Amino acid sequence: MQPHHSATEPALIRAATGKQGDGPIPVWFMRQAGRSLPEYRKVREGTTMLQSCRDPELVTEITLQPVRRHGVDAAIFFSDIMVPLAAAGIDLDIVPGTGPVIAEPVRDAAAIRALPELEPDSLGFITDSVSMLVEQLGPVPLIGFAGAPFTLASYLVEGRPSRDYAHTKALMVSEPELWDELCAKLARISTTFLSAQAAAGARAVQLFDSWVGSLSAADYEEFVAAHSSTVLHRLAERFPTVPRIHFGVGTGELLAPMAAAGADVIGVDWRVPLAEAVRRTGGGHAVQGNLDPALLGAPWPVIADRVREVIRSGAVAPGHIFNLGHGVPPQTDPTVLTRIVELVHAEGAELRAE
Ligand code: CP3
Repeated sequence: MQPHHSATEPALIRAATGKQGDGPIPVWFMRQAGRSLPEYRKVREGTTMLQSCRDPELVTEITLQPVRRHGVDAAIFFSDIMVPLAAAGIDLDIVPGTGPVIAEPVRDAAAIRALPELEPDSLGFITDSVSMLVEQLGPVPLIGFAGAPFTLASYLVEGRPSRDYAHTKALMVSEPELWDELCAKLARISTTFLSAQAAAGARAVQLFDSWVGSLSAADYEEFVAAHSSTVLHRLAERFPTVPRIHFGVGTGELLAPMAAAGADVIGVDWRVPLAEAVRRTGGGHAVQGNLDPALLGAPWPVIADRVREVIRSGAVAPGHIFNLGHGVPPQTDPTVLTRIVELVHAEGAELRAE
């Protein structure tokens, strides 16, 4: 425990570490930097996604845009879960409108063994970006992130975004030792990527296991939990004051093992009410979420009522970080996000105390 920083500790950190009390509810949005913002589309013109992620000044500008515009309580580092794989030397691209595409999908022992390690020295552009950002953010905390082993493996094995993860699951159940080798390597890459961000000043980290909700609880426990746990525990050892958020989509059946993997905060999508997520995870974790992003186009009074409902539901948790249940859709009117921030700030603490 850190001595007596609580008075100046950002609301995000207080909520993440169970010290929210009757204080404010922090709010940020997954994918808050991105295509919903005209200022983002403007600065990204003519630069590919991966090029943008390697340019510290551009990363800093894009990360700051939603903080300036919406007054959110945290910045999320502008990067991508594929960036550390590219930095390690894996040939891949992020194709607009499609997502990550791997030049040579990784499906057999030879390909898995040939995967490079990520050398911390190749992350100078990350360290530079985070340092520049932390300086400009002042008191607003920066959240670093990485993809979790299963979600990274799903892109490497399928070679591109997938609906059913058939190749990934086939490898997982038919060659479990090879699968473990792949995931152990990816866990080292995620740990290195998160460590670089935390060492340079990120105040919290989020491990995105976005697509792990495609697994049964039994398969999650048998094939995945230990690898995500390795990442979360290594981070906790190296950076004990940096809280860990663990998030995936469609993970209602996995919330308990995902919380047990070593997170301080469990990210919840819109399918499970926060109070139910608290019940499923035993009540010891803070929660993050979970307004349905598909409702952002609804009339404001409807959205406002849903925001209040989310806050009331999350009040049973020792901490609540308001967010969407997944990323901001590109067609979102950004003024709606600003209104949500204002509403959470104006009414949040009171609604939580009801
Ligand atoms: O504001 C933020 O949240 C920070 C930036 C961020 C990006 N990717 C930028 C991005 C974060 C946190 C991510 C993480 C990420 N990337 C995840 C986990 C989060 C989640 O959504 O569950 C995943 C699964 C990826 C892989 C990925 N990269 C996808 C699915 C896509 C979208 C493909 C598309 O165009 O629909 C990307 C590309 C990407 N990552 C963009 C941005 C702003 C779009 C870039 C472009 O189109 O040029």
